[in-house]
Amino acid sequence: MISRKITASIQSGSMIRKMFEEGNRLKGIYGEDNVYDFSIGNPDLEPPEEVVRSLCALTASPAPGMHGYMSNNGYLSTRTAVARSISTASVTVPPEAICMTVGAAGAMNAVLKSILDPGDEVILLSPFFMEYINYIENHCGVAVIVPTDPDTFMPNMDRIDAAIGPKTKAIIINSPNNPSGALYPKEILSALNDRLLSHDRVIHIISDEPYRELVYDGGSAPSTISVIKNLIICYSWSKSLSLPGERIGYSAVSPEHEDFELLTQAIVLANRILGSVNAPALFQKVIEFSIQAKVDITNYEERRNLLYDILIGAGFTVSKPAGAFYLFARSPEDDLEFCKRCAEERILVVPGSAFSCPGYFRLAFCASEKTIRGSADAFRVIGRSYGLCD
Ligand SMILES: Cc1ncc(COP(=O)(O)O)c(C=O)c1O
Repeated sequence: MISRKITASIQSGSMIRKMFEEGNRLKGIYGEDNVYDFSIGNPDLEPPEEVVRSLCALTASPAPGMHGYMSNNGYLSTRTAVARSISTASVTVPPEAICMTVGAAGAMNAVLKSILDPGDEVILLSPFFMEYINYIENHCGVAVIVPTDPDTFMPNMDRIDAAIGPKTKAIIINSPNNPSGALYPKEILSALNDRLLSHDRVIHIISDEPYRELVYDGGSAPSTISVIKNLIICYSWSKSLSLPGERIGYSAVSPEHEDFELLTQAIVLANRILGSVNAPALFQKVIEFSIQAKVDITNYEERRNLLYDILIGAGFTVSKPAGAFYLFARSPEDDLEFCKRCAEERILVVPGSAFSCPGYFRLAFCASEKTIRGSADAFRVIGRSYGLCD
């Protein structure tokens, strides 16, 4: 017998995965080129040259002992490079602040395991990446959902304040955001920090930042570490270096954090207890040697513009996202029904309900230019069927 909880999870399933599977089914029938799959955020750019070069050099002449056990927080040389890369003029991050992890998902699980007692609450700002609920429940926590402001998707301080109770342990923020693409300005981060510090105990701000480098129109994501005191960053190179299959990321505790000593030790222990033990050795080294590398985001920016124009042309209501690689548009009817209607035209999108935000749908624009251009006629057919365009 398997557990009741996992049985229920299997039955409900992930909506994103379901759309992905539906895409594969349709591709089998109509052919790869005739299905417009915007369902999953799987980066389709190859990793940068520097990454490939580092990987080749490391495998050609591995350092002795490179594949052995190591400290559970990872190689000191890698953590030193990472700590330097996130230090700012006002905050110097020491290598002890960093724990190398199995992607951002591994970092979030290690962090939540470190801070949650059963029944503790974690505030989530909807729309949000639905796996957060699983991560919180893994560690017997309770998710408390607080909606962001409509259409801007910015955190609403009064609503957050109202949701804080005696059991609130943390809030998770994610900017640039999956699925809305919203980028929180420094003033918002600062206001959030002030509000949480006004409570008489530590409320951790967990900043999930896998899209940090994916910011468009010449902008950049403000550094959270120079603004937020009780901060824990969860990061991965899944998106910024197109390495999601390599499962490499880190957690970073702000040196200003009130619980710095104990928390950093707790995360390392949690990383071990969770079974990953340490992050993959080879890719820690790859990251260390290519810490400055980045994928070319002009590519994503062009595709964002292209898909945005197609949606606007078909009469949809959508704002241009400042970052990440998703468009979050208003659904002209119940979002689950709307996604079924899109599938009839061989377009795969994910309902806002999958992000705790019904009334919208998400499109991942990390799809090929051909797929995006190819979808234009089908979007017009759909738009017309709802009276959104001629
Ligand atoms: C907001 C957000 N956080 C975390 C993750 C998980 O990242 P990783 O694959 O590095 O574990 C994802 C993946 O899509 C994401 O969108």
